[in-house]
This record gives sequence, structure tokens and C-alpha cells, in this order.
Amino acid sequence: MGEDDFKRLVEAEQRIEPRDWMPDGYRRTLIRQIAQHAHSEIIGMQPEANWISRAPSLRRKAILLAKVQDEAGHGLYLYAATETLGADRADLTDKLVEGRQKYSSIFNYPTLNFADVGVIGWLVDGAAICNQVPLCRTSYGPYARAMIRICKEESFHQRQGYELLMTMMRGTDAQRRMVQESVNRWWWPSLMMFGPSDAESSNTAQSMAWRIKRHTNDELRQKFVDMSVPQAEALGVTLPDPELRWNAERGHHDFGEIDWDEFWRVVNGNGPCSRQRVEHRRKAHEDGEWVRAAATAYAARTASSEEV
Ligand code: ACO
Repeated sequence: MGEDDFKRLVEAEQRIEPRDWMPDGYRRTLIRQIAQHAHSEIIGMQPEANWISRAPSLRRKAILLAKVQDEAGHGLYLYAATETLGADRADLTDKLVEGRQKYSSIFNYPTLNFADVGVIGWLVDGAAICNQVPLCRTSYGPYARAMIRICKEESFHQRQGYELLMTMMRGTDAQRRMVQESVNRWWWPSLMMFGPSDAESSNTAQSMAWRIKRHTNDELRQKFVDMSVPQAEALGVTLPDPELRWNAERGHHDFGEIDWDEFWRVVNGNGPCSRQRVEHRRKAHEDGEWVRAAATAYAARTASSEEV
């Protein structure tokens, strides 16, 4: 198999598999995107884990625990997908803790109260679903298959968030204010999850040609805004954008300009919690060294006893 077969497979909407020939750039782009995605799942455990010990009921605690564990699982499937491309998981973790590889900007914001758990489920996981459902049709087989399972779990995450917010909105005035304040903080960072505008996106054109990405950043951001407006109305919260309004001509909502300076500041490692998040990950990795050593020793012993 060579370049012509690769092109033919991609154009015919067939999947590229690990042993197939692929351009070096395709492999590099996939490792970059999937590693960034995996790091996001793993770093994304931190803001919500912050509330596990302070969940207001056993039910909410069980839901939150399950969700944070799912995120660990998503990170592991995705690291496994990078390994099918020849990447080394330990090397990717080093790159993350040394700030040489990115993870989603959204996880650099603090979680200040329990409404944030609901809003992360509704908006952050909602944005993740919008971005990730099309990735179930991405051209690289192992990534596409990992995304199918991940998306199913993400929809549970989104629904638990919305249900938590619905419950709070049926509660006291203080609870309703808490939800609105949380929506005010998370709305714009959620829109930033989709990446820079298409004009500024260095990778989109090539990734679309290779059918790694199936929609541009702006297309997905628009879809998310259109999806969120009726959900906000049903919930009874206001989205913090005075320019947000239906445009009948376009058949979409218009919305205000994202603060791109803030976006790039956060992407470049200077978000409100960036240092704390990476430091926590580095420490967890170092503290886990004995587990990795024990697992490796056990695997070696099992392999040698099987040989006998
Ligand atoms: N946070 C951090 N970095 C970002 C973000 C963001 N929200 N958006 C874009 N970037 C980075 C890109 O990684 C790229 O960096 P690099 O070229 O130095 O590696 C640069 O900004 C320019 O952006 P694009 O050219 O638009 O990059 P790309 O084509 O990769 O598109 C996107 C970015 C949409 C995030 C894409 O990588 C993607 O769909 N990834 C898979 C989904 C994902 O990673 N989700 C993570 C959050 S969801 C969750 O974990 C629950």
C-alpha cells in the first residue's frame, strides 16, 4: 500500500488502520491531536475531582465519582490510540508535564462551587460532544472507534450536568443565583474550546483534507451556540452575551466576539490554574512510579513463567 491507496481510502470514507501506509504529516497530526485530547481528559479530572469530597449528597457523589473515572478511562483509550501510531505514552506524559504539549484551555479555570459541576456537564461536556461526535467518522480507525465509546459516556456526563442544574433551578433563589453566576463564568471559555477562528487555525485545512477533522472550528462553535440557546431558555438562565440573537437570514444565532487575547494566554500556559494543573499532574505521575514499577515487574514475571 502506498500514497495512492491512502488517498483512495480516505476519499472513499474508508478507515486508515495502524499497519497501512500513511504520510508522515498525517501520523504527526494525529499524534498531536489525540495526545492533546488524551491530556485534556486526564487534566480534566482535576477541576471536578475538587468537589467529590464536598458533594451535597451520596447520589451526587456517586455520579461525580463515576464521571471522573470515565474521564480517566477516556484518557487511557486515547493514549492507547496514539500507541498504534508509534507514540510512547511515557514520552507523551513527559511532554505534558514539561509544557511541550497542549491540553484543552477549558481545564485551566477554577471550579468555585457545586453549580460548576452542573455547568461543566452541560456546557463543557456539551461542547465536547459537539466536537467529538463527528470524530466518530474521523479517517483513522483506532481514533474513530475510541470516540464512539467516549461519546456515549460524554452524553451521560452532559445529562447529569443538565439534570443537576434543573434541580438547582427548582430550588431556592440562592441556588438559582449560583447557577447563573457559574454560567456567566463558563460560557465564554466553553466557546473557546472549539479553537481559534477558521482564519487563524493553522491545522484545519490539512486536517479536513485528510478527513481527520470533519468540520471547521467555527462550524462546530456555531452548532454549539445554536444548540445551547434553547437549553438555556428551558433552564431559565441567561447566556452572558448581549450580542446573542437569532439571525433569520443565516438561520443561526449571531454572537459576540470571543476575547482572543484571553484564549491565547490560556492556550500558552498562563490560565488562572495552568501551573497548578500541570504541577498536580507531575506530582501524581511521580507518586505513581511504584505502581508502574510493580506492574512492569509483575508483567515480566508472568511472561517468564508462561515461557516455562
Ligand atoms: N485549548 C488548547 N489548545 C488549543 C485549543 C484549546 N481550546 N484550540 C486550539 N488549540 C491549539 C491547537 O492544538 C493548535 O496547537 P498546535 O498546532 O501547537 O498543536 C493551535 O491551538 C491552533 O489550533 P488549530 O489549528 O485549530 O488546531 P486543531 O486543528 O488541532 O483544532 C481542536 C483544535 C478543535 C481542539 C482539535 O484538536 C480537536 O478537535 N481535538 C479533539 C478534541 C479535544 O481535544 N478535546 C479536548 C477537550 S474535550 C474534553 O476533554 C472533555
